[in-house]
Amino acid sequence: MNSDQHGSIISLAMTKRMGLSYLTSLYLLLSCLLLLLLPSSNSVAVNEELQTYIIHMDHSHKPASLSTQESWHRTILKSLSDPVKDQEMLLYSYNHVMQGFSARLTRSQLSEIETSPAHLATYKESFGKLYTTYSTQFLGLKRGRGIWPTASDGKGVIIGIIDTGIWPESESFADKGMPPVPQRWKGKCENGTAFSPSMCNKKLIGARSFSKGLIAAGRKIDPELDYDSARDFFGHGTHTSSTAAGSYVHGVSHFGYARGTARGVAPAAHVAMYKVLFATDSDESAATDVLAGMDQAIADGVDIMSLSLGFDQTPYFNDVIAIASLSAVEKGIVVVCATGNDGPGRNTTHNAAPWITTVGAGTLDRTFTATMNLENGFSVEGMSYYPESVYITDAPLYYGSSDQRKATCSLGSLNQSEVHRKVVFCENNDSDPHNQVEEVQRVGALAGIFSTDSLFLDAEDYTIPSLVLPAATGKWLKIYLTELNITKVKSIKFVSTKFGVKPAPQVAFFSSRGPDPINPGILKPDVLAPGVDILAAVNPTIPIVELGKYDLVSDYALFSGTSMAAPHVAGVAALLKALHPEWSPAAIRSAIMTTTYPVDNNGTILTNQETGLPATPLEFGAGHINPNKAMDPGLIYDLNFQDYIDFLCSLGYTDKQMAAVLRRSQWSCNNTSSDLNYPSFMAVSNSSSPLMKKFNRVVTNVGNDAAVFRATVEVPPGMKVTIEPSTLSFSSKYQTQSFSVSLEVDEDAPAVIYGYLRWVDQYKHVVSSPIVAVNFSK
Ligand SMILES: *[C@@H]1O[C@H](CO)[C@@H](O)[C@H](O)[C@H]1NC(C)=O
Ligand SMILES: *[C@@H]1O[C@H](CO)[C@@H](O)[C@H](O)[C@H]1NC(C)=O
Ligand SMILES: *[C@@H]1O[C@H](CO)[C@@H](O)[C@H](O)[C@H]1NC(C)=O
Ligand SMILES: *[C@@H]1O[C@H](CO)[C@@H](O)[C@H](O)[C@H]1NC(C)=O
Ligand SMILES: *[C@@H]1O[C@H](CO)[C@@H](O)[C@H](O)[C@H]1NC(C)=O
Ligand SMILES: *[C@@H]1O[C@H](CO)[C@@H](O)[C@H](O)[C@H]1NC(C)=O
Ligand SMILES: *[C@@H]1O[C@H](CO)[C@@H](O)[C@H](O)[C@H]1NC(C)=O
Ligand SMILES: *[C@@H]1O[C@H](CO)[C@@H](O)[C@H](O)[C@H]1NC(C)=O
Repeated sequence: MNSDQHGSIISLAMTKRMGLSYLTSLYLLLSCLLLLLLPSSNSVAVNEELQTYIIHMDHSHKPASLSTQESWHRTILKSLSDPVKDQEMLLYSYNHVMQGFSARLTRSQLSEIETSPAHLATYKESFGKLYTTYSTQFLGLKRGRGIWPTASDGKGVIIGIIDTGIWPESESFADKGMPPVPQRWKGKCENGTAFSPSMCNKKLIGARSFSKGLIAAGRKIDPELDYDSARDFFGHGTHTSSTAAGSYVHGVSHFGYARGTARGVAPAAHVAMYKVLFATDSDESAATDVLAGMDQAIADGVDIMSLSLGFDQTPYFNDVIAIASLSAVEKGIVVVCATGNDGPGRNTTHNAAPWITTVGAGTLDRTFTATMNLENGFSVEGMSYYPESVYITDAPLYYGSSDQRKATCSLGSLNQSEVHRKVVFCENNDSDPHNQVEEVQRVGALAGIFSTDSLFLDAEDYTIPSLVLPAATGKWLKIYLTELNITKVKSIKFVSTKFGVKPAPQVAFFSSRGPDPINPGILKPDVLAPGVDILAAVNPTIPIVELGKYDLVSDYALFSGTSMAAPHVAGVAALLKALHPEWSPAAIRSAIMTTTYPVDNNGTILTNQETGLPATPLEFGAGHINPNKAMDPGLIYDLNFQDYIDFLCSLGYTDKQMAAVLRRSQWSCNNTSSDLNYPSFMAVSNSSSPLMKKFNRVVTNVGNDAAVFRATVEVPPGMKVTIEPSTLSFSSKYQTQSFSVSLEVDEDAPAVIYGYLRWVDQYKHVVSSPIVAVNFSK
């Protein structure tokens, strides 16, 4: 492996940390470059630059003489003036996710199309990014008990993953014991670079790749790195696929850490990969390709779609994932998306359309540690992912010169001859610990001790033997070392995995948080799922960690991100689909949401990882997923397609915008309302006066025939909630009942205040919903 390849992995991990602004400016920069690089020759003038456009058309205008939509799209393009010779203009003709196509056009060609009465809307190409074994045990999933046996491990369900491709040889995709490929499946495994149809089996039943949009936009796919096929370069798609539906694989670990059995949440479900993201200079995906992947997934017949990538937040009519997901949901496909890694700031959620199940990331109750013993026998435990079972003994300890006990380890600050082959203790000076690691490595020290609270190192950052302490411990240790003049470390021992850490789960610091910038009136994210240090399969040929001159590879590795959280929920959705094939996507989401828990293993409300302070539903949604409970939720809050139309009707979109989102020229706003029959309640206000809001809901009994549910309300001072009626009696399964929730919030209440409504029946079903009020004026 050459070092270029390693560079790419680092930049992927960095993408995760960078804000949208960086990516946007990168995009702008690239667009400028494209402008400069325009062919100066022939008929195409500079202002006639070719651009990729996504064009929504009204299919009721398709001439009857043309049998397919694609032939109509080609006819439209052929009729344009100045077509560029010998160049394919059409990128994709879409059939399911939208009515229309994507094409390379000049401005004037686009204007010609836009004058057609069939034209609805045009969007310029945009680019999206990734939101980058034990977790199943943490979810309470056990062989022979709970939802796994009841739902036959998700047998027969097909999960479509829209991601970076797949490593088909991974043991996680072995098909031993898998049921046959469902008869209804229309997908296939495409041949391509390092990928042949024979690599698919009863586990991996589909693999396709979509790169026309990227290539048309001039984003060069690096042929030295990535593959022109569904084979995964980054390992991201392999990781998400094996998290959702990987087979059982024993004895896997991340260089010794997290050792155990890897398996997906729905180990008997089938996987189909739709690759839409490739290694380019910006490691992004093109909207046209994502649309094409989702279009194909619908055509192929997936039951669940999982997306761990996203675009800048825009209104639904301009959001390709929102539009494509609505088509999928109309066809009964559950769409699960990562909410993004733009936390911990508020108002940062992505993929939050109300027909999508939006997932935030939580921690597990597991840590990886190393222990340092000092010369006087005192020992300190810190966090570490250092890959080798290294054992450091009798090493000198450096924490500044003996006259000035202080080492900041900022770049260039250490003197090589003073610290060479020593263990260096670096002060917490609020500088980025990544720089401290680099500095300690630069001077050839033996190991580094770092202390920080606010900034986190990922597994791949442990390029030297290191140990990370909480800032308070670090501060205390510094005093201890100085007072006792300790100058030697007796030993440092790495690779130890601890369970039962408290508090857990916590909301991961990077997880995007509500209120949703596009529609603050619906609580997002919907739920929290494991997304920190998730062990799953990866591309075994690219280095995970660089240790000196060694690049270490592994079949399984720890990744973090809401990217890792979404496939957990996709797996749970597959289990529920196996168990209740007739449930709608909204019913499946409702079951997952109303059975979550909002408390940690220390019995208090979930906290934020970066502060340790209590989080709110703006961070964790309804709460942390609890799959065993989700299989028997008691009641569900269902929604059908007309409900989403009625919701869209309330947004004040133009007819053309509505037609683009809904893929049709006719619809009726039967009951225009922004108050969806959602399993959570969210009220927003922007004034200091008291807030009052009434919600109407309908619940369907999916528990026992004769059930009586009583409402219990838990609200803090300053909030008043009235449920009417407060008792719901059902005489049969699938019967529905209506109720209303009247919310009042005092004017002196805090900016974010929340409580819970719980419907409880005599069979111990607890149907829980958060009720949240946010006041933007505070
Ligand atoms: C499959 O793809 C590879 C690489 O692109 C190519 O060399 C091979 O000829 C293809 N095989 C078939 C059957 O198309
Ligand atoms: C580094 O430390 C050595 C030995 O203590 C000393 O001789 C040298 O001057 C120091 N270098 C710098 C740049 O401070
Ligand atoms: C600290 O210990 C070192 C070596 O163990 C010794 O050289 C030094 O004089 C001691 N300093 C103090 C202040 O005791
Ligand atoms: C557990 O909760 C108690 C209060 O209920 C709190 O004092 C303690 O710090 C918590 N422990 C952890 C590890 O968060
Ligand atoms: C939320 O973010 C959007 C843009 O992402 C912005 O337009 C809006 O004003 C923000 N709202 C709040 C309350 O910060
Ligand atoms: C919406 O209203 C129209 C006209 O009143 C009616 O034909 C249609 O069935 C209604 N659709 C739904 C889903 O209720
Ligand atoms: C519209 O909503 C109201 C209030 O929820 C309800 O009473 C009415 O029956 C609904 N009408 C239709 C056509 O669904
Ligand atoms: C709330 O109102 C203020 C002042 O009118 C305005 O600047 C702000 O953008 C509003 N915020 C939202 C979320 O509507």
